[in-house]
Amino acid sequence: MSQDKPNDQSRMDRIVSLAKRRGFIFQSSEIYGGLNGFWDYGPLGTALKRNLKECWWHDMVAGHDELATLPGAPTPYEMTGLDCTIIMHPQVWKCSGHFDLFHDWLVDCRESKRRYRYDHLQGRWAAHRGKRVFVVTDQSGEEAGPHTATRAQKFFGLRAKQVEEIEWDGGLVPLATSVAAGALSLAEALGPDAAAPGTLTEPREFNLMFETRIGALAGGDDDRAFLRPETAQGIFMNFKNVLDTSRVSVPFGIAQVGKSFRNEITPRNFTFRSREFEQMEIEFFCRPADSAAWYRYWRDRRWRWYLDLGLTAGKLQLREHGADELSHYSVGTADIEYAFPFLAAGEFGELEGIAHRGDFDLRSHMEGKLVRRDGALVLETGPDGKPRHRGSGKDLSYFDDVTRERFVPHVIEPSAGADRAVLAFLCDAYHEDEVPDEDGKPRSRTVLKLHPRLAPLKAAILPLVKKDGMPEVAVDLYRRLKARMPCMYDEKGSVGRRYARQDEAGTPWCLTVDGQTLVDQTVTLRDRDSLTQTRVPIDEVPDLLAGRLR
Ligand code: GAP
Repeated sequence: MSQDKPNDQSRMDRIVSLAKRRGFIFQSSEIYGGLNGFWDYGPLGTALKRNLKECWWHDMVAGHDELATLPGAPTPYEMTGLDCTIIMHPQVWKCSGHFDLFHDWLVDCRESKRRYRYDHLQGRWAAHRGKRVFVVTDQSGEEAGPHTATRAQKFFGLRAKQVEEIEWDGGLVPLATSVAAGALSLAEALGPDAAAPGTLTEPREFNLMFETRIGALAGGDDDRAFLRPETAQGIFMNFKNVLDTSRVSVPFGIAQVGKSFRNEITPRNFTFRSREFEQMEIEFFCRPADSAAWYRYWRDRRWRWYLDLGLTAGKLQLREHGADELSHYSVGTADIEYAFPFLAAGEFGELEGIAHRGDFDLRSHMEGKLVRRDGALVLETGPDGKPRHRGSGKDLSYFDDVTRERFVPHVIEPSAGADRAVLAFLCDAYHEDEVPDEDGKPRSRTVLKLHPRLAPLKAAILPLVKKDGMPEVAVDLYRRLKARMPCMYDEKGSVGRRYARQDEAGTPWCLTVDGQTLVDQTVTLRDRDSLTQTRVPIDEVPDLLAGRLR
């Protein structure tokens, strides 16, 4: 069964199909052919995503106990929130480093006019009857190998049964690394959609920020603005405002959930890499001396959050970045990664990054854009010796009333993607199994085993038949339950079909009103995962289910 093989494109295709069929996720502007990298959430998807964001906000902010020292935390701490604008002063992005450094490398194909992310291209050498070419693919995972084989077959003009005649020299290697190592030149590379080698251009930088113009008379460089590529900078912009207007003191965190935009060169893998997406970010401000301990705390806390909400431990990985992978600001980063089904076996995709950003952000917004030189952050200057990007000149340091010290706090940043988390929870919850039907015969079912806190609907109330007073009792239960949690009433079709509909929607509990209900005021409570059916007094249902949702 597909469950045994988590990394499987056909399984991913079935998840995407369910997401569309049941109204979780739709392609944006679909009736006009869709827009690559943009996705809409349907009725069930909206509820799932809202639940996910509410779980995050509750667990990290609203429900946080600021008097307790939580397991692994050096001390108690405070949490608060912000909701900032998407468009900010352009200088924000100059000092944050996004203006200069937030780019990917792209290559164009002169023949097919297609554009590729340089670091997504890989290839391998193929030879046939003295002719040799480096066959490049833009596919990843299990599809990359077969794609290069088909490309080579076409290039050498072979029929399918002659594919065996192709001699392969080594396995798939990243194109960028091979070119950098001098193992090949781009002139020898056969582009993923080209008929002849040598059509790929030299790689060039492409800034991922979406540009816009402000105001009716827009046109000059001063009107140029950007859609935020991360929510984090809004928090740094308001660090002083929060300090001055609330009673928080270091250590404390500011959380924000909101849209971010990145003009990704090759959006792919369903919602995984989108051009418009939502982030759930915390900037946690602490004393420099305690920052390493807080980094460890947040890394472990965020890791546990995914497990507590039901992601399979074996499909999650916590990976510390090597020094060569660290962002320009980071002195330590760990990624929480998930084995998405569209990846090859053994590969993981990032769900969340937890970064130790040091004092880079607050100092950059005070002094001007900083660069790391000989291990220290120093002001970056232009050829004229002036700051490359001027800071605000505002004092963003912190004064500790107790120790009478002034310092620039260090920042730990757990930065999660709401859409990626929804995708991971959907993929993880997707199961295909067999259940007995009303006659006891095995019937295959598709079920989303979502954690009850995430499930779009918590319960469905089903009268066994549409007569004998059962609908009236069921409607009354529906109304009492609806006041406490999202649930639905369904009287259409056989009870087996109604269970199947709820299983696909991820509803954890079904409550069936039957003949016995009319005698003893109990209903059948069916559990989606264990399939157990127990009788519960109807009056106890709301408290029982509410208790299970805590
Ligand atoms: N402030 C730090 C920051 O933005 P990031 O690793 O670039 O760090 C954080 O992004 C998270 O945002 C990622 O772990 C991922 O979950 C999500 N994310 C980033 N780019 C995305 C994209 N193109 N589509 C969907 N989610 C994305």
